[in-house]
Amino acid sequence: MNTPKTMQAWCVHDYGKADKFVLEEMPVPAAGEGSLLLKVTAIGVNPVDWKIREGGHRRMYELKFPATLGRDCTGVVIESRVPGFKPGDRVLAVSDQGRGYQGAHASYAAVPADFATKIPAGVSDEEALAFGVAGTSAWIPIVEMGKVGPGMRVLVQAGAGGVGGIAVQLARHLGAEVFATCGPKNIDYVKSLGAHRVIDYSKEDFVQVATPCDVIFDTIGGDTHKRAFAALKPGGLQVRVNAIPVDPKPPRDDVRSELANVRCTAERMASQLELAAKGILKAQITQRFPYAQLPAAYLASETGHARGKIIVTVP
Ligand SMILES: NC(=O)c1ccc[n+]([C@@H]2O[C@H](COP(=O)([O-])OP(=O)(O)OC[C@H]3O[C@@H](n4cnc5c(N)ncnc54)[C@H](OP(=O)(O)O)[C@@H]3O)[C@@H](O)[C@H]2O)c1
Repeated sequence: MNTPKTMQAWCVHDYGKADKFVLEEMPVPAAGEGSLLLKVTAIGVNPVDWKIREGGHRRMYELKFPATLGRDCTGVVIESRVPGFKPGDRVLAVSDQGRGYQGAHASYAAVPADFATKIPAGVSDEEALAFGVAGTSAWIPIVEMGKVGPGMRVLVQAGAGGVGGIAVQLARHLGAEVFATCGPKNIDYVKSLGAHRVIDYSKEDFVQVATPCDVIFDTIGGDTHKRAFAALKPGGLQVRVNAIPVDPKPPRDDVRSELANVRCTAERMASQLELAAKGILKAQITQRFPYAQLPAAYLASETGHARGKIIVTVP
């Protein structure tokens, strides 16, 4: 394939709301050492993307404008600067602005190869996107930090979200008793993911219903996070990925509170894709937008009530 010199990329020239987006002609990025150049086929939109756009991650790194946003994408390898990948490979990848990469919301993206993995046969590009940022944000707390297994009770906060939906499926697969919170419209949906008990947060108090938990996975933060400590059994763990600041010290000294450091490594994404190829994890792609409507995909995520995963298809 002849790679063009320029491409259409969604850019912002300043921090702000979704009206900052412009579709612009930009140079196709070069694949540096340790990178892959991809022809992007589909893009995932995650809450982190609009939080970065609004300037919420400036403590960690400043965007260089014009900036292309976007973390997870799928694509076909055009150029590989590492062993193990070759042109034509179909991959799931996560860009890393913290390491100076531009985002993936473009027709072509240079991505770090250590955050890229081949998509197995039987999993579509669109499905694979569920196991990038969202899936890995569930994998680390449930599998690695929570070490969830049979005989454990797990509470997943926001079981209908892109992260929570994978967490519910993983915890169920690992043999735990799974409780999950969601709003009234999502009760049947979260049950269908495998939760044994769904808690409608508009009617029920999860502390009353779910106590005593071994692991609580918090994707909400704030007051929900504070109250959840009461639902842990002695020795229990609350793991958080929430962006809303919380007091890191638990109000009890017989439980633990930890923050997940979400690094979307190739190994973590490959482990999930293997389960997806076996039909154990099911991607929940609930909203698809054409590339020309990428800002609308962000607005859908910004409601805070997206179900499953929002994706954008790239021609
Ligand atoms: N630190 C990290 O690296 C990291 C990584 C991934 C995610 N996160 C954060 O984790 C959060 C979730 O991410 P996501 O991708 O799953 O978001 P999402 O796909 O936008 O999901 C939001 C979900 O939250 C549910 N929800 C809203 N208020 C709720 C409440 N009070 N109790 C229970 N559920 C509630 C909504 O369900 P209803 O419509 O039923 O209310 C919706 O399904 C975001 O804040 C994101 O930024 C952080």
